[in-house]
Amino acid sequence: YEKLDVRPLRQRLLVVANRLPVSAVRRGEDSWSLEISAGGLVTALLGVKEFEARWIGWAGVNVPDEVGQKALTKALAEKRCIPVFLDEEIVHQYYNGYCNNILWPLFHYLGLPQEDRLATTRSFQSQFAAYKKANQMFADVVNQHYEEGDVVWCHDYHLMYLPKCLKEYNNNMKVGWFLHTPFPSSEIHRTLPSRSDLLRSVLAADLVGFHTYDYARHFVSACTRILGLEGTPEGVEDQGRLTRVAAFPIGIDSDRFIRALELPKVQEHIKELKERFAGRKVMLGVDRLDMIKGIPQKILAFEKFLEENSIWRDKVVLLQIAVPTRTDVPEYQKLTSQVHEIVGRINGRFGTLTAVPIHHLDRSLDFHALCALYAVTDVALVTSLRDGMNLVSYEFVACQDSKKGVLILSEFAGAAQSLGAGAILVNPWNITEVADSILQALTMPPEEREKRHRHNFVHVTTHTAQEWAETFVSELDDTVIEAKLRTKQ
Ligand code: ADP
Ligand code: G6P
Repeated sequence: YEKLDVRPLRQRLLVVANRLPVSAVRRGEDSWSLEISAGGLVTALLGVKEFEARWIGWAGVNVPDEVGQKALTKALAEKRCIPVFLDEEIVHQYYNGYCNNILWPLFHYLGLPQEDRLATTRSFQSQFAAYKKANQMFADVVNQHYEEGDVVWCHDYHLMYLPKCLKEYNNNMKVGWFLHTPFPSSEIHRTLPSRSDLLRSVLAADLVGFHTYDYARHFVSACTRILGLEGTPEGVEDQGRLTRVAAFPIGIDSDRFIRALELPKVQEHIKELKERFAGRKVMLGVDRLDMIKGIPQKILAFEKFLEENSIWRDKVVLLQIAVPTRTDVPEYQKLTSQVHEIVGRINGRFGTLTAVPIHHLDRSLDFHALCALYAVTDVALVTSLRDGMNLVSYEFVACQDSKKGVLILSEFAGAAQSLGAGAILVNPWNITEVADSILQALTMPPEEREKRHRHNFVHVTTHTAQEWAETFVSELDDTVIEAKLRTKQ
């Protein structure tokens, strides 16, 4: 056993995700600039330090020419990133189509886009073919860079076909797959035409991970009900081969946020924000502009709160920072105009010549500005209709050790299972309930705020991204060792 259990001090890790941590912007024929990509997956993985990691993924841009590809490959190599080049048609069918118009809404219980239902059904086959092709392209790049002993860690719903492709290349590869979204009830997964193909390919991995025990349970049920396989407490068994399935709740690099608050630049931001909103309580929403985040519902709940609590109208402001995302998908374009329309109407209704109740920004904030905003916030509103985990709630808590503000958190976010005892949990679909919880949060006695914050702060600072990655990788190592021992017996 000991002989098999030899692990390098710094394990070499190939992280494979659709999105690289940096997105490329072309500045000239052979010059590129790189910007940090938004999203929970990137945030969490950037918090993982103690591995010799290389990141394989798409740089978010079409690069049809060889000169551009060479220059970008070089620029990315400095960040230990390796690009997978996807052409426009593949991006359209695989990323915009199958991933973000089919899997994403389905996994978040939103079904298929209503108006596009028939069109989606018709284009399903070609989109799934593109999905498989794209996954094969990722596998080809992994295979080119793989060295014996590497751990290959595949991420998210974009790459459910990847474990199978990798094992076809080399059955000895240590392959883990982690899902950053919810895995829905097997009744939902059953509706997907490619339901069995996807489950079977994920099962080719040695270890399959989810944020919560519930998502893991849904996955095992899907495998038993749809594929007729045996679910065990360890995972899923198919003809004597076990795929280990378990929950690995993600975290953030909390120290990075806590340290940032000490920086003069951040302190300066904090001072400006305090002056700007003096005399008002600050409520905050930070989201990608995505339908799963429940942004319209959140804003309508805030309107209800203002409607019912007139004395608060000039004493509170909602800052909603929403970074545009997946802008080529029609459903996201509709959401943007819907949010603008609601914000405009409410500001027209409750605004004055000198102040408006909602400040809505359609953009990304840099890290320091974001930390300052979290630090001055009295109440954070996370109203996801469904969310794998939701790291914004973690970031808020990390920045609140002096203010001890209140977190209002959707019970449908994975984070409700870890921060539930400290947050006010709400059903985001119930606007009256959310409006009432806003009042509860704004009037909460300091001792109760302190108690709730303490609970969440301890969690966020102990369950970090680094700990998440270490647990996953060491579980993957153990799983592979145990499987070898089993086949030797
Ligand atoms: P998701 O993974 O669905 O985007 P998470 O809440 O888990 O949701 O993670 C979102 C990440 O993206 C967080 O790290 C958050 O700080 C970042 N982010 C989201 N919106 C913005 C924004 N407007 N500006 C800057 N960062 C943002
Ligand atoms: C979520 C997904 C990630 C994705 C991120 C941003 O966090 O789980 O896989 O990278 O959203 O979305 P995008 O489509 O821009 O990569």
